[in-house]
Amino acid sequence: MSEVFSAAKLGSLELSNRLVVAPMTRISAEHEGEPTDLMEDYYARFAEGGFGLVISEGVYSDRKASQAYQYQPGITDDEQQAGWKKVVEKVQHSGAEMICQLMHAGGQLQYNRFYEHAKAPSEIRPKGEPLSMYGKADTWQKPEVLDEGDFNQILNGFVGAAKRAKEAGFVGVELHAADGYLLNQLLSTYFNERNDQWGNSLDGRLRFLTLLVKSLRDALGDDYIIGMRISQVALTDYDYQWPEGEDGFRYMLEKLRDAGLTYVHTSDINVNRKALKDSDKSLAEVATEIEDLEVIVNGGVTEYNAEDIAAKYPDVLLAVGKKALANPDFANRLKAGEDIADLDPDMLEPKPTIQHELNWRKINEGKQD
Ligand SMILES: Cc1cc2nc3c(=O)[nH]c(=O)nc-3n(C[C@H](O)[C@H](O)[C@H](O)COP(=O)(O)O)c2cc1C
Repeated sequence: MSEVFSAAKLGSLELSNRLVVAPMTRISAEHEGEPTDLMEDYYARFAEGGFGLVISEGVYSDRKASQAYQYQPGITDDEQQAGWKKVVEKVQHSGAEMICQLMHAGGQLQYNRFYEHAKAPSEIRPKGEPLSMYGKADTWQKPEVLDEGDFNQILNGFVGAAKRAKEAGFVGVELHAADGYLLNQLLSTYFNERNDQWGNSLDGRLRFLTLLVKSLRDALGDDYIIGMRISQVALTDYDYQWPEGEDGFRYMLEKLRDAGLTYVHTSDINVNRKALKDSDKSLAEVATEIEDLEVIVNGGVTEYNAEDIAAKYPDVLLAVGKKALANPDFANRLKAGEDIADLDPDMLEPKPTIQHELNWRKINEGKQD
């Protein structure tokens, strides 16, 4: 019997299989951050392809320093919200539900139409180079250090954006605390050198995230799905480890659960990587040990390992990124035992836009089959 294609749940949501589309930035919105018709069709394709739950790309949460990329969508005004409502309706019509991933760029800011400076916990630039596929920046800026007013403004931004997401029909929100964006930077001893209440110790590094979850829980009600995507690594630093290792990660998750989190979405290079300092456990293994916290796992899920991962982590959802991009009908194909393509990097280069993908498909679809 298939473990992947068994009934599953997330919060009060009933799902017919355990496959979820991972959040993927497509920089395909209007310049003003409104989702487009192409985005409606793009997201609906996953629903038509058998996925029961789709997590949106990272959506910016306020009109100050949260936007990371040009043509990234936001959910900060009526027009952006109306665009998302149409996306969600089309996805629902095609048989799936959506969660809105909310993000703040932090120091990883490559373009922002509201505010020219990156804002981050400390004056630390990300390692490496900005991502050329996301456009604009040649070098990382030295960020402005967040002050108390900024923390307030960012909190209010997330709460306002989450309320808009709920009104637009999303069944939940996911806070992006992975990959080196703001919430991930706060947790990181590399990015967070603060000596005030927002840093200094694990409790300090975690404080804003727990406050945010509590504030969202108050604003959105007891039953609304509130998730958090967490990675240890940043986009340009795959070696970073939290100094507190496995115990620290467990502590983070318990505190976030106590603040009202519904699920954690672990993200790593692959689901089973022994990622934590002085530990032989993966993020996913630790997360699944926490009582009363639901889990989505991500990283390298393919047609070859999906059943094993589903069997190893009962009751957990499996988020699929690149394989879903290459095969929006990954779920249907896997169920039917049909061929599944690898992602051709040319589909995302020079830019990972939906229009570029459609052009790629026009040229390559014949070849692919
Ligand atoms: C084009 C692209 C855009 C992505 N954008 C996001 C994003 O907006 N938010 C996020 O949390 N992860 C993002 N990711 C990471 C994926 O969600 C996922 O973690 C990664 O691709 C590894 O999973 P996979 O092996 O299934 O592809 C992106 C990945 C790709 C390929």
